[in-house]
Amino acid sequence: MSYNILQERLDAAIVTAHDAGNYILLQETSNIRVSAKGLNDSVSDTDIAVEKLIFNNLQKSFPGDRFLGEEQGERGSGNGGRWIIDPIDGTDNYIRSIPNFTISIAYEDSSGNLSLGVVYNPVQKELFSAVKGCGAFINGRTINVSGITDPSSAVSIIAPPRKSYERTSDYFRLMEDIFLNTRDVRRFGSAALELCYVACGRVEAYYEMGLKYYDIAAGMVVLKEAGGRYSSFSHSENLIENGNILATNGYLHDWYSEKIHDNMGV
Ligand code: IPD
Ligand code: CA
Ligand code: CA
Repeated sequence: MSYNILQERLDAAIVTAHDAGNYILLQETSNIRVSAKGLNDSVSDTDIAVEKLIFNNLQKSFPGDRFLGEEQGERGSGNGGRWIIDPIDGTDNYIRSIPNFTISIAYEDSSGNLSLGVVYNPVQKELFSAVKGCGAFINGRTINVSGITDPSSAVSIIAPPRKSYERTSDYFRLMEDIFLNTRDVRRFGSAALELCYVACGRVEAYYEMGLKYYDIAAGMVVLKEAGGRYSSFSHSENLIENGNILATNGYLHDWYSEKIHDNMGV
């Protein structure tokens, strides 16, 4: 796919992410209606309105493209590429006014290759972006993963299995093992943001189970372009199908992978 086609879409995704962020910041969170979609899975009126805003903006500019959004599902039937949209990643943070939520927009070319990603935290005004083969950026400045190679200096983002309780004890054993062998652990509550934090070298690793493609698509592009690595928990698992992701600065990938294998038996 030509650079111009992607550049045009990147520009549109950045403008759209800013529009969506401005819309979110104008809403009064105390008045927002929230409903449950499933176990530990909430949706607010803002999530739905933001997805419509993103869809309308991008569809107007690229009528031949298709869309997969968390709230509206698949839309469009053109021959173009496909946009993957999570209107608010970190809804539980958003409804509690915790400033870690993002708008996550990715684009796959017509052959299904993930080609660009934009992740925007509207409260902190940090916009992460990347186009395949062209590097990764935060607010236009190049970012890279950290150069830490020694696990004892590493900080990991650890997200509990809030949608798959059956693995809780294995997971907490893994967490204990990692905690005891590294510097510290964190949890921010937006998968897209957490991938971008690995990408820009704030932490060395992040892993979580049971994510959806729209949670991680944009962050995966940003991480890869920043020099990082992501994979499923084991070679036999399909990352997009089960959403069990390990994301690292690359240097420590095998170390974390072994810890997952040892404690989770995968
Ligand atoms: C959630 C966030 C969160 C992760 C959840 C996701 P949502 O997305 O990424 O960090 O732990 O599993 O579902 O529901 O806020 O879009
Ligand atoms: Ca999400
Ligand atoms: Ca969401």
